[in-house]
Amino acid sequence: MTGLDVEAIRKDFPILAREVHGVPLVYLDSANTSQKPQVVLDTITEFYARHNANVARAVHTLGSEATTAFENARDKVAAFVNAPNRDEIVFTKNSSEALNLVAYSISNATTFPGADRFRIGPEDEIVVTEMEHHSNIVPWQLLAQRTGATFRWLPIDDDGRLVESSIDEVINERTKIVAFVHQSNALGTVNPVQRIVARAKSVGALTVIDASQSAPHLPLDVQALGADFVAFTGHKMYGPTGVGVLWGRYDVLAELPPFLGGGEMIETVDLTGTTYAPPPHRFEAGTPMIAEAVGLGAAVDYLTALGMDNVAAHEHELVEYALPSLAAVEGLRIIGPPTAVDRGATIAFTLPGIHPHDVAQLLDEHGIAVRAGHHCARPVCVRYGVAATTRASFGIYTTTDEIDALVRGVQQVKEMFSR
Ligand SMILES: Cc1ncc(COP(=O)(O)O)c(C=O)c1O
Repeated sequence: MTGLDVEAIRKDFPILAREVHGVPLVYLDSANTSQKPQVVLDTITEFYARHNANVARAVHTLGSEATTAFENARDKVAAFVNAPNRDEIVFTKNSSEALNLVAYSISNATTFPGADRFRIGPEDEIVVTEMEHHSNIVPWQLLAQRTGATFRWLPIDDDGRLVESSIDEVINERTKIVAFVHQSNALGTVNPVQRIVARAKSVGALTVIDASQSAPHLPLDVQALGADFVAFTGHKMYGPTGVGVLWGRYDVLAELPPFLGGGEMIETVDLTGTTYAPPPHRFEAGTPMIAEAVGLGAAVDYLTALGMDNVAAHEHELVEYALPSLAAVEGLRIIGPPTAVDRGATIAFTLPGIHPHDVAQLLDEHGIAVRAGHHCARPVCVRYGVAATTRASFGIYTTTDEIDALVRGVQQVKEMFSR
């Protein structure tokens, strides 16, 4: 394996030393949520034990230490995604909130002075893809309902890839927003970002990338991606739950109306009206997720020290190893690209005549944690005519031995059901 010392990495994750049902845990559910290295746990404990205070308001020492720790986390995240400006990093609760923030702020544009560029109405169209997570479908459907805009999608082919020939037709002069996933959580597909962004820009549409599954696995460079917004979530990238990120181009954020109102997002409040703080604070109403953001900063440091090119190379090798091993199981159907090209380390599959939940439950008896269901991307299941899939997803701590254990486990499940 190149680049990463996986055995050393595994020692950083205390949970990986655990047993489940009397056997060592094989954790293959990182697309759902990742495990956390000790340094993230320690950073959060240290924050609460020594520096805890509210941010941006207390003048005492702890208040200033907490504010520094919180704002340092913003710097770290900005550097991690190569943001040109730290004020482009908005902390949210998770990816879902980041995506909702954009959708709701856009609908607030109808009554917000200076926000004409965001106004959308019945003549306009919002485009997603058929492989989106519900978090990148429902906020746009709701926006379409609020504004009368038409909701459309780019279709996917039998191999789980975007039908690229549809891009120029579906994204057209009426398109106001194109929101799409970088790496699919249900299929593993990595989408042609530049191609989609270029088309969206050529028709003047805003672009929103859901990078929830790419931020932990691929080098993420918001400038190279070229979109207006990029959303991701801390708990999938070895950080804590309760914190996510919306990156937005500064000039776009600066004109975007607020989403939630409250403390810290204002410039001045009068009973006759309010003016708003510049980004990022305009979008961070109330006390933020301070310890969680600080913990995310530690996760970002951890990933940066490993090197995201190394992370991507390691996971690419895992997919190259896993795809043929799983495909060799008789009857197993991979739902998603059959090759490792432009594909992340998430593999969904079905077994004939065995419900995916049964597969996951029986694998758990062998200590193997996978997810079963529609993975919050139900249109994908509908597209492939299945009610659900079983999904194994890998990360920086995954080994080929664990993939072997998965394949053995799947064989055993099949044998059990054939008896
Ligand atoms: C592609 C994708 N988008 C969005 C989300 C939502 O993330 P969160 O639940 O942290 O908001 C997920 C989580 O599974 C995801 O995989």
